[in-house]
Amino acid sequence: MIYSRIVGTGRYLPARVMTNAEFAARLDTSDAWIRERTGIVQRHVAEKSQASSDLALEASRQALAAAGVKAEELDLIIVATSTPDYVFPSTACLLQAKLGVKGGAAFDVQAVCSGFVYALATADAFIKSKQHKKALVVGAEVFSRILDWNDRGTCVLFGDGAGAVVLVSAETPGIHASVLRADGSHAGMLSVPGNVCGGSVIGSPFLQMNGQAVFKFAVKVLEESARETVAAADMRLADVDWLIPHQANVRILDATARKLGLPREKLVVTVDHHGNTSAASVPLALDEFVRGGRILPGHRVLMQGVGGGFTWGSTLATL
Ligand code: ACO
Repeated sequence: MIYSRIVGTGRYLPARVMTNAEFAARLDTSDAWIRERTGIVQRHVAEKSQASSDLALEASRQALAAAGVKAEELDLIIVATSTPDYVFPSTACLLQAKLGVKGGAAFDVQAVCSGFVYALATADAFIKSKQHKKALVVGAEVFSRILDWNDRGTCVLFGDGAGAVVLVSAETPGIHASVLRADGSHAGMLSVPGNVCGGSVIGSPFLQMNGQAVFKFAVKVLEESARETVAAADMRLADVDWLIPHQANVRILDATARKLGLPREKLVVTVDHHGNTSAASVPLALDEFVRGGRILPGHRVLMQGVGGGFTWGSTLATL
């Protein structure tokens, strides 16, 4: 039996840090409100010249170096993003060119904040099928581009960044199980309902959200998804060393851990210093805890996404 295994992680956050005080200076909000309702203290914002593929490149270089894998060895690149550089070609193809390689498969996955988990599960399936052996899986976003900076209900929540992992074929897991779900009937709960047509934007180019509905839905499906994935791996929640839910809001993370009966020490929280970075949030958090020496080889990590679509899913992996 062939499995896939994460052998390197990396991350990149743009240099520009934006604090809550900057919002309070020009909108009817406050540092206290944002911290209390979301746990977010600051977020990073990309320069105008930086696109998702640029952020992805920095994170990928780190992940490849950590894995001891050369870009030339990759036979699969998947980028999860809802803020691609262009309508096409895919950000994965642009990243491949920036890495200076060619020939392997490269494509994007669009599942909003579940994007990284969807991409990881896809790469795992490709490796298990023996079609590919060495994959680069990236979550990269510049959500700052799709925010209405005058809407206090949404603009304070998000940030830009990228995280990456290198996944290789292995004789032992690695990835034990992934469960992906979607329910398109909730499309209107969180969306950017716009498109480009004849040179103009049709609809809205800005993120819209029913915050309270998203909150309740996220907590419900994160709990269900964790239980389903652990069962699919033939394990118990007690076997999980670390829970990395999509970093949307500290209250969503705390509520999920509480419902699952997992102690706070097993919960990975990084949303406070980079905000909600959508598809980048899980690999950013993973890399921070791996490099920080908290997630160690042999630890079992449950990674979870939930976001627009609505989409959700989890992957259980031994590092
Ligand atoms: N500063 C001050 N007041 C604000 C702000 C702000 N930044 N944003 C909203 N408010 C106001 C509202 O206008 C409302 O005022 P009103 O009572 O006069 O109408 C009041 O605060 C309460 O609004 P609620 O929406 O009830 O506040 P809530 O406690 O639900 O917090 C929040 C809002 C933070 C958006 C919360 O619902 C949330 O986090 N939801 C999840 C959203 C999320 O994480 N989305 C990310 C994308 S989806 C995903 O990643 C899973």
